[in-house]
Amino acid sequence: MVNKTIIVSNRLPVKIVEENGEYLLSPSEGGLATGLGSVYKKGNNIWIGWPGIEIPLERQQEVTEKLAALNLIPVFLTPDEINLYYEGFSNEVLWPVFHYMVTYAHFEQVYWDSYQKVNGKFKDVVTAHLNEGDTIWIHDYQLLLLSERIRNIQPHVTIGFFQHIPFPSYEMFRLIPWREELINGMFGADLLGFHTFDDVRHFLSAASRISAAKISDNVITYKDRQLVVEAFPMGIDAGKFENLVHDPVVAEHVISLKETMHNCKVILTIDRLDYSKGILQRLQAYELLLETHPEYADRLSLYMIVVPSRDTVAQYKELKDQIDQLVGNINARFRTLNWLPVHYFYRSFPVEFLSALYSTADICLVTPMRDGMNLVSKEYVASRTDNTGVLILSEMAGASKELNDALIVNPNNIGEVMRAIVEGLNMSVEEQRVRMSVMRGIVRKFDIYLWVKNFMDKLEEVKHMQESLL
Ligand code: UDP
Ligand code: G6P
Repeated sequence: MVNKTIIVSNRLPVKIVEENGEYLLSPSEGGLATGLGSVYKKGNNIWIGWPGIEIPLERQQEVTEKLAALNLIPVFLTPDEINLYYEGFSNEVLWPVFHYMVTYAHFEQVYWDSYQKVNGKFKDVVTAHLNEGDTIWIHDYQLLLLSERIRNIQPHVTIGFFQHIPFPSYEMFRLIPWREELINGMFGADLLGFHTFDDVRHFLSAASRISAAKISDNVITYKDRQLVVEAFPMGIDAGKFENLVHDPVVAEHVISLKETMHNCKVILTIDRLDYSKGILQRLQAYELLLETHPEYADRLSLYMIVVPSRDTVAQYKELKDQIDQLVGNINARFRTLNWLPVHYFYRSFPVEFLSALYSTADICLVTPMRDGMNLVSKEYVASRTDNTGVLILSEMAGASKELNDALIVNPNNIGEVMRAIVEGLNMSVEEQRVRMSVMRGIVRKFDIYLWVKNFMDKLEEVKHMQESLL
């Protein structure tokens, strides 16, 4: 049997949606799913994860078969598990703390109990599909305990772990009551990857203070085993986004979009609805611009795509109401008969439509309060095949470490964001081209394929290093 890679993440790259009692497949949103979606299909690799909704027992076989055709293996979660492990511990403890929004965190014991149980459930599914020689690649904060759980029963197996969200400073991480168990859970991997060097530094600092492990540079010795921690900034399928620009479906979308844009300059924002994305602050910056620069009335539009996300979690519901209200206020205050300042869409779109937006927008405004990487910024850059366009990028996004030629802003500084928009609107085409071509070079070179290769090569190297120490 040929060795395979088993990718494991909480969410599969496709989700099940129910329509009139029928189960349909639909692409998942979020950087993890879209980023790895291009690469997992190689050979006999499989991807294990949750299909996104509760599937009753009697229909689980049907869903398993549907997904098997795509090399996907489901882990079914009960309503309680969805509530306590996914919405609870993953998204009301780890997500807010890791994004420095600790006041949003609820440290509930029942969440933790369920998190441990579900990590164990994933372990059962992974080990049921594991053959000798396989490599396991676990992704993200929902599964921090999984490496250790698998290692306990398969001591020599190869496990890589990659975290797609920031790793916070020790002062944040230490607040979590179960910090030691989480760190030890991660130690089950052979290679731990993060997007940026800062994440690596924060992880090593937390590990050295919380655990009994020995740490030397980026090598951790724990229970007589060595593991390595390293930064792997995630890329995108840049070639796909470049080619999409020439796709006839995209070209049609571009034509109809331009008709609606009425020669206005277009600012584009695309995010999941999430408080880490700085959507409200960005709207405030836009409002300030309209207030202080009335000359832009009729000449500027904000196209704002907000993709529904985690809408059963209270803070996400509240944020939706606040965004609705602020957009309503801005439009009511500044609109004219023929001009709408904010075009707000609360839904997801197929990639062809996103590509059309990327290639028509004059400015892409990406201002998260915190973001592990932010792939939207890279997708915009890859789509600018004529090297025009302006990227405004938060210094709190991992991508800002690579895309230095963007206009870099502090997303909390509303005035600075507003001034960056004005600068972008007035930037000469020559300057746009200089900046964009440098960024395109980076996005093209460090694409998702190189990212996977670098991670896998390193994982192999770590295994060799461990063997040579035996
Ligand atoms: N995205 C999508 N459908 C949409 C809007 C966005 O699939 O309607 C994708 C987008 O192309 C990007 C991902 O969602 O690949 C968002 O990734 P990012 O890293 O920017 O943020 P995350 O959602 O992972 O926090
Ligand atoms: C981010 C996380 C992913 C997650 C995605 C969508 O990209 O890093 O792990 O899958 O958001 O969030 P959801 O909760 O819908 O899976």
